[in-house]
Amino acid sequence: MGNPKVSVVITGWEAKYYDELLDLITLFQYGKFIKNIMWNETEVNLDSRVAELGVGNGRNAILLAKRVKEVVGFDISPDMLEKARKKTKKYKNIKIVRKDIRESFGEKYENYFDTALISLAFHGFTNEDKEKIFNNVRKILKPGGKFYILDYNQMDFSRAPFYFKILIDRFECPLAEKFLTYPLKEKAAEHGFKMTKKREYVKGLFQYTELTVEK
Ligand SMILES: C[S@@+](CC[C@H](N)C(=O)[O-])C[C@H]1O[C@@H](n2cnc3c(N)ncnc32)[C@H](O)[C@@H]1O
Repeated sequence: MGNPKVSVVITGWEAKYYDELLDLITLFQYGKFIKNIMWNETEVNLDSRVAELGVGNGRNAILLAKRVKEVVGFDISPDMLEKARKKTKKYKNIKIVRKDIRESFGEKYENYFDTALISLAFHGFTNEDKEKIFNNVRKILKPGGKFYILDYNQMDFSRAPFYFKILIDRFECPLAEKFLTYPLKEKAAEHGFKMTKKREYVKGLFQYTELTVEK
């Protein structure tokens, strides 16, 4: 949408074949990996309302749909939105909304969600935009609500395995490397979130972190 700072907006053929690309890059391990995260590591129940920020083509939303009351998926990319709408059509409790997650979600969604999720996208925002996202998520979550972040883990990049260096240097957006030293726990705390759980995957290269709104 014309902002060069946003580097994780997926369009065109990448949007069209997003699932297939992820499956291929991970040698078809991604399906099992994400199912485990959505089903076993994300605390939800049949009354939960879930916001997914940067919903992509709706893969996570579909995994959560049968376990929750409602999933609202927000995205900025028209191509991803089109794909998500098609894929989630038969799920009556999934709503796909065009939205820039750096902007306010408005009164309608204030204190509305029990859970928020951002998957494989947070690293692609500038630190200034991350602040905006924290602020926005804080407003849409109820007290005690959970904010889950699936992303790269914090690490010393110089000691990372060669295949990870290739991924970050050659294929990722320039902000990804910066995220590896981003003080996630401290920044989250500044916005009233407490880090309540952190799972690490693929030899510690990825994290699934649970942040809870302090009551
Ligand atoms: C790497 S994809 C991840 C998709 C999905 N979360 C997943 O894990 O499969 C990142 C998504 O974030 C969306 N995105 C990027 N910047 C955004 C913004 N400012 N507002 C809303 N969505 C955004 C992209 O369009 C894309 O669909």
